[in-house]
Amino acid sequence: MRVLKAFLVAMALGISFSGQASTLISIDVDTPGPIINKNIYGQFAEHLGRLFYEGLWVGNDSNIPNTKGWRNDAIDALNLLKVPVVRWPGGCFADEYHWRNGIGPQAQRPVTVNTLWGGVEESNAVGTHEFFDLIELLGAEAYVNGNLGSGTPQEMSRWLEYMTSESQSELAQLRRKNGRDEPYRVHHLGIGNESWGCGGHMSPEYYTNLFKQWSTMLRPPWGVPTKMVASGGHGYGDVIDDSGVTQWTDYLTANIKPNFLLGFDAVSFHYYTHPKGSVFEARGAATQFSQQEWMSTLVATLKMDEYIAANKTVMDKNDPDKKIGLYIDEWGTWYDPAPGSNPAFLYQQNTLRDAVVAALNFNIFHRYADRVQMTNIAQMVNVLQAMILTDDDQMVLTPTYHTYKMFVPFQQAVSLPISLSETEQYQLGDDSIPAISASAARGTDGKIYIALVNTNPHKMLPVTVVLPGIAVHGVAGEILTADAMDAHNTFDAPYAVTPKPYSASAKGGELILEIPAKAVLVVAVE
Ligand code: AHR
Repeated sequence: MRVLKAFLVAMALGISFSGQASTLISIDVDTPGPIINKNIYGQFAEHLGRLFYEGLWVGNDSNIPNTKGWRNDAIDALNLLKVPVVRWPGGCFADEYHWRNGIGPQAQRPVTVNTLWGGVEESNAVGTHEFFDLIELLGAEAYVNGNLGSGTPQEMSRWLEYMTSESQSELAQLRRKNGRDEPYRVHHLGIGNESWGCGGHMSPEYYTNLFKQWSTMLRPPWGVPTKMVASGGHGYGDVIDDSGVTQWTDYLTANIKPNFLLGFDAVSFHYYTHPKGSVFEARGAATQFSQQEWMSTLVATLKMDEYIAANKTVMDKNDPDKKIGLYIDEWGTWYDPAPGSNPAFLYQQNTLRDAVVAALNFNIFHRYADRVQMTNIAQMVNVLQAMILTDDDQMVLTPTYHTYKMFVPFQQAVSLPISLSETEQYQLGDDSIPAISASAARGTDGKIYIALVNTNPHKMLPVTVVLPGIAVHGVAGEILTADAMDAHNTFDAPYAVTPKPYSASAKGGELILEIPAKAVLVVAVE
């Protein structure tokens, strides 16, 4: 009743504000929802292009200041994001990776070929021990993706033993000989990647049988939980086929019944945003795009909602107790490669549009916090929708980085139901999307946080916020916006897009926030 009354009052307030209809947001603090798993803010790091070599890993002997070979500037920046989990070594690379190439003295490791990502040499300087150094420098969980496509269950189980065993076994002793006494902790173990595509072009039926075999043979140490992740479907529907969205999730969750020998904890799902809807041909430029491409990018991004909803429907049917998590372990914008760059390296600039894409996705992930237990943006540095771009010793933080930083309070926060009404639409041609996207949660510090996005690139929008039962004095936080849709940070102008302080006071019991055009806002309620 209290909620309904407050909402009706808010309706009246909103419609009367400045003569312009205001979006009305009501946050129900009395009926908290599920916890937003911190791993929703996870990262993906593949052996691809300049992600590791130069972007993150420079080696102990580099002039670039580093710790155990990992560049300090990047690690310091990433630590401010509280990166909760890193997925490695791929991606498609995972299904051609053989772990034995990446252990022992670096100078003696074999040089191999990264066959998918440009046919370039892979020095294997970043291997198991180096990855876990990174994990420890970031204080993150390890998500190791195993090689199902060209490996064997024995190879994978021996790798798991090498990483995790505290016994005196030959493999545990080899790990010690290579410099690590204590076992490493593998929190999440992926069995293959995109097995419908680069991981082997399998059918869900064939893969499901392999998963059962592999998962049965992969035995983490007793009492050390390791989540087994099945390679699932995709939202590449427009260009591959439209069966990928739920067919894999449905088949896997209906046919794998986990038991004490067969671990099955999560199913993955991949979806990339392409302004032009095509993964294989022209995808659209990362900068200097039209308003039409701003719109098509956001339309494509919002499909994430329908894809998760569809997966949730089949998972709720097959797994009503919600024991299986949905891991969106690859997502983000994928544009045409930057002019002059190696097209196989997937290097692209990152603009305010990417910040808006990230925030829209976060609000979607929060909405499905009961099922979405992890997401990993593709990818951490210098690849696709990156947090960080580097050029030799230079480094710049992208608008996407800043969005991740602004959303840190949502990690492990308790989601709060939120209702939007009178929502204005942002329209262009035949396309129309909600102009305002929002989510709310109670952070681990007890404060209520609200995340808001204005998708309209030209219009400031007022938003009326009510929290029934709470006397709100105002809000304070940060806003990310800029004059141009493609505003971005460069090595010469690294602060073109950076968050600015934002605050607003309630007046006469009303809290009305003015959200500038094309902006991301995260505030705490005071
Ligand atoms: O992130 C780039 C690639 O996209 C990954 O290697 C693959 O899994 C996906 O198709």
